[in-house]
Amino acid sequence: MSRQILVTHALPYANGPLHFGHIIEAVQTDVWVRFQKLRGHHCLFVCAEDTHGTPIMIRAQQEGITPEQLIAASATDHARDYEGFMIGYDHFHSTHSAENREHTYALYTTLRDKGHITRRSVRQAYDEQAGMFLPDRYVRGNCPRCDAADQYGDSCEVCGATYSPADLKNAVSTVTGTTPVLRDSDHLFFKLGDFETMLRQWLTDSHLQESVQAKLAEWFEAGLKDWDISRDSPYFGFEVPDAPGKYFYVWFDAPIGYIGAFAALCAKRGLDFDHWWKSETATELHHFIGKDISYFHTLFWPAVLHGGGLRRPTAVHVHGFLTVDGAKMSKSRGTFITASRYLQLLPGEPLRYYFAAKLTGGIEDIDLSLDDFTARVNSDIVGKLVNIASRCAPFIERAGGHLADTLPDSALYTRFIEGREHLASLYEARDTAALVREVMHLADLANQYVDQQKPWIMAKDPARSDEARAVATQAINLFRVLLVYLSPILPRITQTAAGWLGEDAFASWDSVETPLTSRAIGKYPQLATRLDPALVKQLVVSPATPAAPPAPAKATVKAAATPAVGTPPATKAAPVAATHQEPAMITIDDFAKLDLRAARVLECSRVEGSDKLLCFKLDLGDHQRQVFSGIAASYAPEQLIGRFVVMVANLAPRKMRFGISEGMVLCASGKAEGGPDTVFLLSADSGVQPGMKIS
Ligand code: MSP
Ligand code: ZN
Repeated sequence: MSRQILVTHALPYANGPLHFGHIIEAVQTDVWVRFQKLRGHHCLFVCAEDTHGTPIMIRAQQEGITPEQLIAASATDHARDYEGFMIGYDHFHSTHSAENREHTYALYTTLRDKGHITRRSVRQAYDEQAGMFLPDRYVRGNCPRCDAADQYGDSCEVCGATYSPADLKNAVSTVTGTTPVLRDSDHLFFKLGDFETMLRQWLTDSHLQESVQAKLAEWFEAGLKDWDISRDSPYFGFEVPDAPGKYFYVWFDAPIGYIGAFAALCAKRGLDFDHWWKSETATELHHFIGKDISYFHTLFWPAVLHGGGLRRPTAVHVHGFLTVDGAKMSKSRGTFITASRYLQLLPGEPLRYYFAAKLTGGIEDIDLSLDDFTARVNSDIVGKLVNIASRCAPFIERAGGHLADTLPDSALYTRFIEGREHLASLYEARDTAALVREVMHLADLANQYVDQQKPWIMAKDPARSDEARAVATQAINLFRVLLVYLSPILPRITQTAAGWLGEDAFASWDSVETPLTSRAIGKYPQLATRLDPALVKQLVVSPATPAAPPAPAKATVKAAATPAVGTPPATKAAPVAATHQEPAMITIDDFAKLDLRAARVLECSRVEGSDKLLCFKLDLGDHQRQVFSGIAASYAPEQLIGRFVVMVANLAPRKMRFGISEGMVLCASGKAEGGPDTVFLLSADSGVQPGMKIS
């Protein structure tokens, strides 16, 4: 029977880039969704940007932009990254949306009217200079227990003590550096304890992993406390309708973002909202999350839904944390790998495969070893899976591109398809590690079959060319079965192979019941290429040691620095030459202060609201910079992506209306007779590397 399944993964915060931790979660979810769709179920996959809260508000202030601008920029970056990993959302929304506001208000009002909301005063650290209450993380000081310096307001990283910011010694607000005071304010609380019986029941009915159930039992043991769901102004979020100046805490409206995203999808597709959110039997609701946010998803969330008159989740699937080469991802070690850095170097699909091959459906941490990644992808995908097809395709092409009418070894084919319900159960349980292992074992058998039959010897004898074709037909059919099994993990290879063997060949899980025979197939396309270990190594960067190779052969820069538009004149670099007026003189020592670097243009786009500015993302080898430059009149962004520019790398970052500019792109300016003013970027000669020092 066809199931109706709504799936989400955790909403990424809209104030930072996606990293490998986000990607493993998105891949796990996407693979599960593609599997359900392949099985013929009606499965919908929604997600959204998580946009509210203090960090986003403060980050926007620091960048001199509005929170709306910050979250819009994040949304664009995130969408591009998810697409690079082929995450196939039915809809991707934002928590800063009308739909989310509507559902947040509706749930809150219902909870309040049913008596599940209470008010009481809370004493909290307050920054008088910034005029705001400080979340615990924005207060630092000495640990009250062990006196370790520079600890957060809620816990000590040295001795593990937990406390409140009021207990910290020498407390300092990280927003202004001033000493916070304590101030009282009324807050709204959700009475989680009202739902204990319901939650205990839900915990046994819903499909939670054993370790997650154990965690819940501990939480019940410790007692369910009221949950503070409000924050004081200034706050970027939704104002509480009956408490002006109070805002809903970001974690209150974030999961409601799942509903908001689905509501937007309803509008797009004409779905029946109530059918999906008011009954627990008609449809299923599955959330994929990391273990750090289980409390929100297994206690607060089902309680809020239930209290608000909506269905509870069918299941919450928790995964462990990703480590890189055995250690927590770390910026200082360069192992905090962002999605965009990866995608600049490598295609998304191999990483999908690797993550799937590591995910077991449990909550233990998952390690990405870069050497293992390269070895595994090259051996499994290229050496085993694709190899079956690539070595046999020529024998079909020589036979006019037609598959044989029957399979010479139907017993072997049966062996490949008889385990498919078991494989499906591994997908269902998210144990893709076991699934990949079993499929690769079958790939070995398929390759052994070809090794034994030796179609290349048959093909040499004109009398045996039919035999060669039959063997190739058999092998290609085995390949096709394996790729159907792996298609949720490898959508791109599947798509390419569908162009070769026919769309129907990969359309459903059960399609493998019928082998592909007596049909014309296309020309064999390249399905995968080997990963270059040198590129994989570049994923890890060491920011501590800027990769500045020895100075290259002289490239003299004679140029006018193009001042970024919007820069106050006082901070403009003195123009050097290229104009006819006598420029203000600088000495050679002044000039030597400029740190000029070759930078590669990774991204370049027009800036909304400005017709002069281009926004660059520049690669300096070991890190990236955002730079604004007023050269939109002379260059279209598309012309610049991929080329090298020369930049002043040690110009102090400047806050502009559109964001921070972290340097300056050098241009020469000039004017052809009768022509408009124009600028020319310096063209770097061959042999240039991103980040190379230029003198
Ligand atoms: N915005 C909240 C989630 C709200 S859901 C209603 C949040 N965002 S997050 O960006 O910090 O994390 C998003 C997801 O990524 C979470 O499920 C989190 O567990 C996961 N991961 C973040 N770092 C991770 C690893 N290093 N490894 C695996 N997953 C991790 O929390
Ligand atoms: Zn301590």
